[in-house]
Amino acid sequence: MASGGPEPVLFVIHGGRGDLSMRKLLPALSHLANEGRLHPGSAIVGVGRGSDMDDGGFRAMAAEALKEAGAPPSGDEAGKLWASRLFYQVVPDRSAASYEAYDRRLAQIEDQLGHPGHRVFYLALPPQAFPEVIGALGQAGLNRSRGWTRLVIEKPFGRDLASAKALNDFIHQRFDESQIYRIDHYLGKETVQNLLVFRFANSLFEPLWNRDRVESVQITVAETLGVKGRAGYYERAGVMRDMVQNHLTQLLALTAMEVPGAFEADAIRQEKAKVLRAVAPIGPEEMVLGQYGTGAVDGGEVPAYLGEPGVAAGSRTPTFAALRLQVANWRWHGVPFILRTGKRMARRVSQIAVAFRCPPVFIFHPFDTCAIHSNVLVITIQPEEGFDLHFEVKTPGQGVELATQKLHFRYSEAFKPLPEAYETLLYDVLAGDQTLFVHADEVEAAWSLYTPLLETGAPVRGYAAGSMGPEEADSLVSDLAGGWVTR
Ligand code: BG6
Repeated sequence: MASGGPEPVLFVIHGGRGDLSMRKLLPALSHLANEGRLHPGSAIVGVGRGSDMDDGGFRAMAAEALKEAGAPPSGDEAGKLWASRLFYQVVPDRSAASYEAYDRRLAQIEDQLGHPGHRVFYLALPPQAFPEVIGALGQAGLNRSRGWTRLVIEKPFGRDLASAKALNDFIHQRFDESQIYRIDHYLGKETVQNLLVFRFANSLFEPLWNRDRVESVQITVAETLGVKGRAGYYERAGVMRDMVQNHLTQLLALTAMEVPGAFEADAIRQEKAKVLRAVAPIGPEEMVLGQYGTGAVDGGEVPAYLGEPGVAAGSRTPTFAALRLQVANWRWHGVPFILRTGKRMARRVSQIAVAFRCPPVFIFHPFDTCAIHSNVLVITIQPEEGFDLHFEVKTPGQGVELATQKLHFRYSEAFKPLPEAYETLLYDVLAGDQTLFVHADEVEAAWSLYTPLLETGAPVRGYAAGSMGPEEADSLVSDLAGGWVTR
């Protein structure tokens, strides 16, 4: 969001040859280089344990990955970057000797390129490796450099409130909060950022955005994908840690927060943490968990979660969650917020649906708009990014018949293709803008909400792949006009 840095940067990726680095980070850096948003003197260092990799091997691997991602490096700024300023450093263990050698190599690259010493350390690693690596970086003095040093951490941040707090404390002993960039890639999505603009640059909706006019808010993130060879991670995470604690909670916070005093990181992040702290404890009866069985998705048969490679026999890991919660503040008291997400659902769609109350007295009998969602604002995060505002009209002809119509806006009709979330986020890291990153307080407020639910032994219901989740989840919206908005 801020303007790009004017100086070259050393972008260091721990887990340099991993999936995230190859599929997302290197292509995003490549685009930024081509657009002139990464200083042309910058360099990238992949870091890993295996001694079977060197600069040449890493350059070849990156070139392949960029081709696959449709970001081939050829004869342009990115091409120069990949050809001569991509390095690989083997750090076999966390010993002082290994980190001293690592430190020397970084300094040597910077000297060779005449860098001022600005560094980004990106931890594209499994979460269990965070403390070890952060500890070793601190021990070696790599938490400070001649220029600025920033640390980027992928989710999940902790496994529950206690572990998230411990991790925050551990990191804060080595890095200042102003150096820490906790990634939630949903915040990099244009449509998620647009929530702030939509709410706070338009005066139209603000008077309606409260308990007097809103009946319910439903947030759905439905995926058609299964666990896709990620069972090793997913079996330990499950949907609550993988999606609810982070992505859905961020959408909730941006939808429900108060107007920040200014459009700047601290003000926005404080309001988000504040609204999360206002959420009332969620009772076990307000949560429905599910796990997908066999079924058909996008016209093809797919296996059940239990049939996915790497999933333990009889696993009870949930792949679906729906929760009904209350934001206990003046703006939202009494308005149910329903969060729902799952894998292997009927279609891929992420939406925030704000359903407005029906008219207090309805004169067009026998039509009853209270039986349906007549006035609803549906903000679509993906795909077909944009929004729809539903309202009632008279159908032409004799007598009075009503029909629901939509005003709609689609990004694709108004603008060129949207940038990848990682491109936006990496650019903000380079520019030192923390607005789209999650503050320690937000992480802890989110874990406070869900930690009590994680160990309740709540039943995990079955649902067919290709459905919208277990039917038990319908009970969470049975008292709302029209039930689910997103079907
Ligand atoms: C990731 C989760 O954070 O988000 C995945 O770990 C999930 O399980 C993904 O599939 C969804 O992201 P997107 O951008 O495809 O909606």
